Amino acid sequence: MRAMDERYAGKLIVFEGIDGSGKSTQADMLYQRLDREGQHSVLLSEPTRTGHGKTIRDSFTGERFSPEEELRLFTLDRKDDLRNNILPVLLRGDIVVLDRYYYSTAAYQGARGLDWKTILCDQELFVYRPDILFLVDIPVTTAIERIRSARGGGNSFEAADYLERVRSLFLSMRYEYLHVLSGERPAADLADDIYGIIAGIL
Ligand code: ADP
Ligand code: TYD
Repeated sequence: MRAMDERYAGKLIVFEGIDGSGKSTQADMLYQRLDREGQHSVLLSEPTRTGHGKTIRDSFTGERFSPEEELRLFTLDRKDDLRNNILPVLLRGDIVVLDRYYYSTAAYQGARGLDWKTILCDQELFVYRPDILFLVDIPVTTAIERIRSARGGGNSFEAADYLERVRSLFLSMRYEYLHVLSGERPAADLADDIYGIIAGIL
């Protein structure tokens, strides 16, 4: 067991998927349901909205950093997020529902040419492993249609061929705590399945 995997009382539940897969919708629905059930939980997302996270978000609409620089910034942002936001919640025994985590770094920066397996190994030297990881999987064409109808356009992180590579890297990942779910199903059905899986660890 790694040093950072020292057991804490809380639970870490992570949602991953390509842009437009519906993972933020599911993260939010789970958070609301936990709240209704009286379970103390916090909804977080990466990249964060401050510090390095803000630097990255500002690049979404302009020129992209090199893959190496993106890897560096997403990693620094994650270290801040772990220390400032995630760890305090886990230590007090509550639940973190996290929209994107280091699997996104492996898939998105991997899809730009970096070695995705090396990214996973390097990140796993400092992260907390999730108790459950949901991969909300969806065909890229459906995801792009959803993004277009929701926002009227995508950003440079969302070109179709790039998202195809991201999707295939996500689907190459193997973890005993990983659950792959079809994001094409109605959101409420998906949420029920997710809550059923979560109930098993609470
Ligand atoms: P992501 O966080 O993966 O980018 P969102 O949760 O923001 O995706 O969803 C993208 C769009 O798709 C939103 O307009 C949302 O309302 C819609 N959406 C989410 N889940 C579903 C679903 N299961 N079926 C159809 N549309 C969905
Ligand atoms: P975000 O607004 O969270 O997108 P979404 O609502 O679709 O989840 O923006 C996150 C973008 O950053 C998304 O395109 C994925 C990308 N990303 C990376 O490239 N590497 C990472 O490590 C993370 C966490 C996100």
